[in-house]
Amino acid sequence: MKSVVIQQPERLVIEERPLPQPQSGEVRVRVMSAGICGSDVHIFRGHNPFAKYPRVIGHEFFGLIDAVGEGVEASRLGARVAVDPVVSCGHCYPCSVGRPNVCTSLQVIGVHRDGGFSDYACVPDRCAYEVPAAIPDQHATLIEPFTIAANICAQLQPTARDIALIYGAGPMGLTLIQVLRGVFGVAQIIVVDRIPERLAMAQENGADWVINNLTTDLKAELEQAGVRPTLIVDAACHPAILPEATTLASPAGRIGIMGFSPEPCTLSQQAITGKELTIYSSRLNSGRFPQVIAWMAEGKIQPEKLITHRFPLEHVTDALQLFEQDQKTCCKVLLSISV
Ligand code: NAI
Ligand code: MN
Ligand code: ZN
Repeated sequence: MKSVVIQQPERLVIEERPLPQPQSGEVRVRVMSAGICGSDVHIFRGHNPFAKYPRVIGHEFFGLIDAVGEGVEASRLGARVAVDPVVSCGHCYPCSVGRPNVCTSLQVIGVHRDGGFSDYACVPDRCAYEVPAAIPDQHATLIEPFTIAANICAQLQPTARDIALIYGAGPMGLTLIQVLRGVFGVAQIIVVDRIPERLAMAQENGADWVINNLTTDLKAELEQAGVRPTLIVDAACHPAILPEATTLASPAGRIGIMGFSPEPCTLSQQAITGKELTIYSSRLNSGRFPQVIAWMAEGKIQPEKLITHRFPLEHVTDALQLFEQDQKTCCKVLLSISV
């Protein structure tokens, strides 16, 4: 089988590898489609501190179960599945309180163990979620990115009264806009970015008001309009955003952060306590696949709006390069895989 292997930072090779055999409790997935994410590029460039090399990248993928390991029902053969990349121990403190995404021995498929940019991938049976026929293959590839939005929403608990402000209209910001609009029906969605093309994508995905914070003073704009966001999410993940968000938020507001920057940021206790703000963080997803699959099946979210490019697996280098360099046109870039 062919696998996209990052042998070491900056060295990507499509390797011919032996067909893997599922171990006890595992299924083998014949991968049909996979999505490129910023973190795949980070592993390629050597910027992911968790990655071990050599590594088959890819943690957003869909396929068919074509073999099962010991202890797995044979009825699983042929199932169309989306794979949850979170592999957890099931018994540590975070696992015991329903937060397997921060398991003390967390393994992420495509980061800590081999992933889905490959003809086949073996994964724990419990990570492979059956996808109903109503959801087409390529949409199913986007279940994982939507689980990121689902997870932060589980923390923030959006309501119809919320005025949401989202920083960043990349894939993360755009999935979040769709979920806030289609699932939670928040009152207003304001999106901030510095790339006009991305702000246009935000509008197409359901933003009510977009603001370019490179050319406009965000604080002044909001003040002039008399708007105080009750729910703010930093999906751009720059350390300067959280302090700004604490000044913009309504009293009793909630702020969600998703970034991994090691840079410190300076917060004032007064800005937080004075308004009794709540700050949440969210990493990956904690068992949110069934929820997102239901949203897709019910038509509450529109994955097709996010797919901007498709490449065959053989052209993975071109696909990664385009994704990395062309933020103006790219949202989700998919790889089609067929053996
Ligand atoms: P992206 O790089 O495609 O999008 C980020 C967007 O933010 C860009 O459009 C950029 O122009 C905009 N931006 C940057 N600085 C800004 C600022 N100061 N103000 C307003 N807009 C600004 O990235 P993507 O894929 O959408 O991911 C966003 C972030 O989410 C990344 O930092 C990534 O590491 C993080 N992430 C976190 C996850 C988690 O589970 N916590 C999962 C996936 C991604
Ligand atoms: Mn991803
Ligand atoms: Zn655990």
